[in-house]
Amino acid sequence: MPKDWYEWHELYKTEPKLQQRLEIVREYIAYSLNNSPEGAIQIVSVCAGDGRDLLGTLENHPRAKDVSARLVEINSNLVEHGRATIESLGLAKQIEFINGDATLATNYVEAVPADIVIVCGVFGNLADETELNRLLDNLSFLSKPGAFVIWTRGHSNGIPYSENVRKILGASEFEEVNFKFTATGDMGVGLHRYLGENLAQPKEQQLFVFSGIPSKAR
Ligand SMILES: C[S@@+](CC[C@H](N)C(=O)[O-])C[C@H]1O[C@@H](n2cnc3c(N)ncnc32)[C@H](O)[C@@H]1O
Repeated sequence: MPKDWYEWHELYKTEPKLQQRLEIVREYIAYSLNNSPEGAIQIVSVCAGDGRDLLGTLENHPRAKDVSARLVEINSNLVEHGRATIESLGLAKQIEFINGDATLATNYVEAVPADIVIVCGVFGNLADETELNRLLDNLSFLSKPGAFVIWTRGHSNGIPYSENVRKILGASEFEEVNFKFTATGDMGVGLHRYLGENLAQPKEQQLFVFSGIPSKAR
């Protein structure tokens, strides 16, 4: 069982669920880039880990030159790793990796509203549905109208939690573009578009509370 989030990322080397999830997330990021209008593309990643989903996609993507991104992650080892990847890809002028609290609106100032919002590995680490609704509501601060939102939600004890997320998204201002389960069947990955308005100021400074712990990650 991983003790911290850096250790949790080591599971990408061995866990089919995580490897398949990453593949789908990258596919959705590439789709979002391909379907963004010509010109600049702004991206934010919430609780970005080491950024392997976005950085691994940009490595071979023709729209990489158009991207400006801010990744927010609290674990300094993961940020260090991500920054080294950014350097090696020659993307340092376009991509900032903030070592900070992704739950705070202040850490997104001047990087939002975004065209693509990545919230992977987050929904399963919220205390309950109320907290999920709060985060979804606060996406109005992070997202442009029409923004692509990419998310993941693991299942546990046979409960398909991702179906609940889809239901909640469908009942609010999001339109489903794509959704897949990993081949392992216990992880859902979604691509939605935000149809609401952008809020220039956040409704609250704390956008959500991340309450998960790595040994119980879902
Ligand atoms: C399940 S991992 C997902 C990482 C990455 N998004 C991915 O899908 O590979 C959750 C991440 O959230 C980070 N995290 C937890 N609380 C945070 C906070 N308050 N602010 C920023 N990052 C946080 C952890 O350090 C961890 O890297």
